Amino acid sequence: MKERILTGIKPTGYAHIGNYFGAIKPAIELSKEEKFDCFYFIADYHALTTLKTREEMKEYTYNIACTWLACGLDPEKVVFYKQSDIPEVFELNWILSNVTAKGLMNRAHAYKACVEKNETAGEDRDAGVNMGLYNYPILMAADILLFDANYVPVGLDQKQHIEIARDIANNFNNKYGQTLVEPDGYIQEDFCTLVGLDGRKMSKSYGNTIQLFTSEDVLRKTINRVVTDCRLPGEPKDLDCTVYKLYKLFASAEQTEQFGKKLLEGLGWGDAKKELFEVVNKFIKPMREKYFYFMEHKDEVDKILASGAEKARYVARKTLSKVRKRIGV
Ligand code: TRP
Repeated sequence: MKERILTGIKPTGYAHIGNYFGAIKPAIELSKEEKFDCFYFIADYHALTTLKTREEMKEYTYNIACTWLACGLDPEKVVFYKQSDIPEVFELNWILSNVTAKGLMNRAHAYKACVEKNETAGEDRDAGVNMGLYNYPILMAADILLFDANYVPVGLDQKQHIEIARDIANNFNNKYGQTLVEPDGYIQEDFCTLVGLDGRKMSKSYGNTIQLFTSEDVLRKTINRVVTDCRLPGEPKDLDCTVYKLYKLFASAEQTEQFGKKLLEGLGWGDAKKELFEVVNKFIKPMREKYFYFMEHKDEVDKILASGAEKARYVARKTLSKVRKRIGV
């Protein structure tokens, strides 16, 4: 039997190049390996803890769906669906709540961070915390365990959630007999090291991202915001700079070497950014065309997701029916 890989993508913002290199590209590469069976889904109900309006929900959900399709996800190979289309997830979520210690949720990083912040501010420890945030790890466990996932590719920040899913599966199995697969993380360390416009890690929360799919004009303007030092044209540049690090991601080894040489010979930052824009734009262009195609043909996207949901529910129903038998309902 093939090993199953499953991951969820939360629609809480526009995809940026950090997401592309850290998550999208490696996940799509994994899906091309014959030995794996891949389930990738849009975790829209998880996004409810952050999103404020239905417009955001719709916009970001389509952005994620169209982004993955544009980047080469093949819906014939990958079961690609929306979490909210799988009611079985929410039934399992309740069942799993009953084998999850409250203390385990108290120790989850996201919740703990809120409590610490409240305590520092002298507020009630649970101020601003709703049950969606508190139960988030159980819903995530349901996403994973419902599909017998063996490996879950995620960034380092999600590692604890995979461990929690494993614990919950183990608790269920101990109580009711071997039923659920205990998943392993498939941690992508470099998710954390992609450099943003200001030289820090690229992250939405720092506001230093390069959005993957925008007009050329916006892309150019974003690249012009890359932070540089004050060395003048003619002065040799340090190859530890952000411009060079970003360039390297998009260019061939040969191009990168050439570019490095020019920087050492004193290429000015203005010209360097022009060259950076050229390589980034060339790399993104074919995917961008597909992205805008899908954004203009949302009915096609809806169909792809509906067919993914059907395939996913086939598996989900089987697991859930096993689970229901085990608990005696
Ligand atoms: N919590 C994940 C994130 O913030 C998204 C997610 C939801 C997920 N369910 C999942 C990831 C199941 C992997 C498996 O990015």
